[in-house]
Amino acid sequence: MATSGKKRILSGMRSTGRLHLGNFVGALENWVKMQGEYENYHLVADWHVLTTDAEHTGDILPNTLEMVRDWLGAGIDPSISPMFRQSKVKEHSELHLLFSMLVTQSRLERNPTLKEQIRDLREKLQARDLDDENRPENEVTDSGLITYGHLGYPVLQAADILLYKGEVVPVGEDQLPHLEITREIARRFNRYYGEVFPEPDGYVLEETKFSRLPGPDGKRMSKSLGNTIYLSDGEEETGKRIMTMVTDPQKVRRNDPGRPEVCNVFTYHQKFNPDEVPQIDADCRSGALGCVACKKNCAAKLNDYLRPMRERRQQYNDDAVMDVLTTGETKARAVAQETMAQVRDAMKFG
Ligand code: TRP
Repeated sequence: MATSGKKRILSGMRSTGRLHLGNFVGALENWVKMQGEYENYHLVADWHVLTTDAEHTGDILPNTLEMVRDWLGAGIDPSISPMFRQSKVKEHSELHLLFSMLVTQSRLERNPTLKEQIRDLREKLQARDLDDENRPENEVTDSGLITYGHLGYPVLQAADILLYKGEVVPVGEDQLPHLEITREIARRFNRYYGEVFPEPDGYVLEETKFSRLPGPDGKRMSKSLGNTIYLSDGEEETGKRIMTMVTDPQKVRRNDPGRPEVCNVFTYHQKFNPDEVPQIDADCRSGALGCVACKKNCAAKLNDYLRPMRERRQQYNDDAVMDVLTTGETKARAVAQETMAQVRDAMKFG
């Protein structure tokens, strides 16, 4: 337990750039909500980005700045919740190395996230091989597709969490296998060298309608599908995205009765305009409310919701974000150094 008497949260995101509504709903918004009750530490996993692209490192820093700007816009308060880059706290690499001796290769090969990524890589390779007869994809083994560092992704994540003795890790369900590996590493360390680490719990939010907010097209919101609404988009752009949304296909004319339960616009109303939901539900079903008016209202309410976040975001230029990070890194480093002193001591390195 942290000195404040509050439990410590360690949460992190890979720095891949501006965040969209799908990253906010069910993830970032919870970090903000948990801020009073927990002691929050927020990590920018900028080394983890290398696992999927080690070649193009030039985008990492600008992406970090955009992402942290979104954190600040959403309401993470830098005076109580340190935000810091993994790459600026060298203790991450030391603990990662030590932890890498406490987990077997086969344990890491069983990681379902890795298997998924191998599948993706193989698909990409297959697509390329159609024009390259010299590299038949089936000659490349699974382990030939990933780097040593990529295999160790969850080991680095375990170091991220345990360096701060994070007790609670707010994550999506897809990250639970990584948390299980974190717990196994903590347990093994404690058994070999004595109690140093807590066994952190994944804090998975109740699976609600909103834990995965669909994009305007109804599919999972993702950069690669091009269906994102960014927190930093303009109001007009956001409005346009909402106006393109598909509603109940059976509601063809304005006064046809509609079925809110099959309408994605209604999902957005439930999230961003809860007060009007009963009225919208009734008026959609009776045919009193047409889809165009309903979407216009939805766009306005979504923009109302995002406006304060967008305004706060704009107050932070690159220098201001960098200040937040360097201050956070000083705080993070102090905690990390203390933990590493305990680790070296427990392992009798002296
Ligand atoms: N693997 C996490 C993700 O892709 C990012 C991450 C890295 C992380 N280190 C972490 C999350 C530590 C929580 C705690 O979302």
